[in-house]
Amino acid sequence: MKKSTIIIDKHNITGSVDPRIFGSFIEHLGRAVYGGIFQQGHIQADEQGFRKDVLALVKELQVPVIRYPGGNFVSGYNWEDTVGPKETRPSRLELAWGAIENNQFGLNEFADWCKKCDSQVMMAVNLGTRGADEAREIVEYCNHPNGTYLSDLRRKHGYENPHNIKLWCLGNEMDGPWQIGHKTADEYGRAACEAAKVMKWVDPSIELVACGSSGLYMPTFAEWEATVLDHTYDNVDYLSLHQYYGNAANDTSDFLANTMGMDAFISSVVATCDYVQAKKRSKKKIHLSFDEWNVWYHSLQADRKLEKWQVAPHQLEDVYNFEDALLVGSMLITLLRHADRVKIACLAQLINVIAPIMTSDTGTWRQTIFYPFLHASKFARGTVLHTIVESPLYDSRNYTDVPYLDAVVIANEEKNELVILAVNKDLDEDMEITCDLRQYQGYYVKEHIMLEHDDLKAVNTEANPNNVVPRQGTNFKINDGIFTSILQKHSWNVFVLKKD
Ligand code: AHR
Repeated sequence: MKKSTIIIDKHNITGSVDPRIFGSFIEHLGRAVYGGIFQQGHIQADEQGFRKDVLALVKELQVPVIRYPGGNFVSGYNWEDTVGPKETRPSRLELAWGAIENNQFGLNEFADWCKKCDSQVMMAVNLGTRGADEAREIVEYCNHPNGTYLSDLRRKHGYENPHNIKLWCLGNEMDGPWQIGHKTADEYGRAACEAAKVMKWVDPSIELVACGSSGLYMPTFAEWEATVLDHTYDNVDYLSLHQYYGNAANDTSDFLANTMGMDAFISSVVATCDYVQAKKRSKKKIHLSFDEWNVWYHSLQADRKLEKWQVAPHQLEDVYNFEDALLVGSMLITLLRHADRVKIACLAQLINVIAPIMTSDTGTWRQTIFYPFLHASKFARGTVLHTIVESPLYDSRNYTDVPYLDAVVIANEEKNELVILAVNKDLDEDMEITCDLRQYQGYYVKEHIMLEHDDLKAVNTEANPNNVVPRQGTNFKINDGIFTSILQKHSWNVFVLKKD
């Protein structure tokens, strides 16, 4: 059996976990909104048409912030179409995804829905077909108390109090040729800078996210970040990163190794932000918003055959399997290991569209990836300890020296808890792990939650929703302050240690 060691020192801290690292994303795409969070006439719909069964699952995940309304969708977004009396809202061709948008659910409904989820809105502005003018107006509509045309329009629409949306994205994936209004780094940097300036003049309390690269694979990567920050450094607070992974080659070892790429991506973006900081002799640090991340590939083929111009088609409905949950767990570990700089992250997306939560007319169910997200969101709150992992390594098709073990340790001082998140990527063998916890006298293992399945391709469906579900482990001990456990081959693990 392979053996790995996790090394921590309670004084060696990476950073505190910003709860917004457990954010998610709802785009006007497929059935995320219509038939997902909103379904008027459904037996589970509340007085606003919000599905209560969906609300309950979102609340279970404890998602502090939800990005909206896109995604690619935002680059053709007219927010004015989405507010006011529903009967006067126009239906439009939605060019990003080739669908019809009828605007029966809009900005104000989303703000209401987020309140019901105990989440904050992370709103994106359209820098594809529009610019600074629209950006300042939407902030005024949402956040200005009263006494101006747009703030009074909001009040006329039934929202006396401002929404006070604190977090705003300056467009979406503007480096991508697929984007409506795609721009060069200089064009985007200038547009983002001017939008940022006037948005903050309307409401100085807001925080802004500039678009970084749509992925590590983009040919403009790094130069894009440096140029955009050159233009926007003083006016923005975060730079975004997006990354999706797939296993089309059916090579699970390589698929699970993708967190090596994600880790390198984050480190390179941090380095680029700090390079611009040095160049500008600035005191300010730019933090990261990893505002789209997930596995995405299962639905790609089917989506190519979709008929255009439908309302809420079944689009991007990836059915996630067990190995996807392992990678999602590892991605969460990677984000947490960078908690000093990654302050916001959004699992993309939340309902039906590449999502942990699925709905049909007859019910809801949790996909496999629901569980690692749930566990991290529930338990990984507090302070990330700098976690050294000494693990045997492997080589895969695209990566070398991949640790079989991914792990991170989080200390929650308020609760006297220490949480270890760990993925054993070994497909053939269980693994013994040890961790010296003599600095944590009196701690005992309160629980060991694990997600494991013999079949890497096992899925949850409406008919079989509990095929892949977590269970409690019992194989652990602490002897003379040394914690030991056996992790099953290809498994996700959460150890909650506690002192009473
Ligand atoms: O999340 C799905 C899509 O992926 C988003 O609309 C876009 O930003 C990204 O390419």
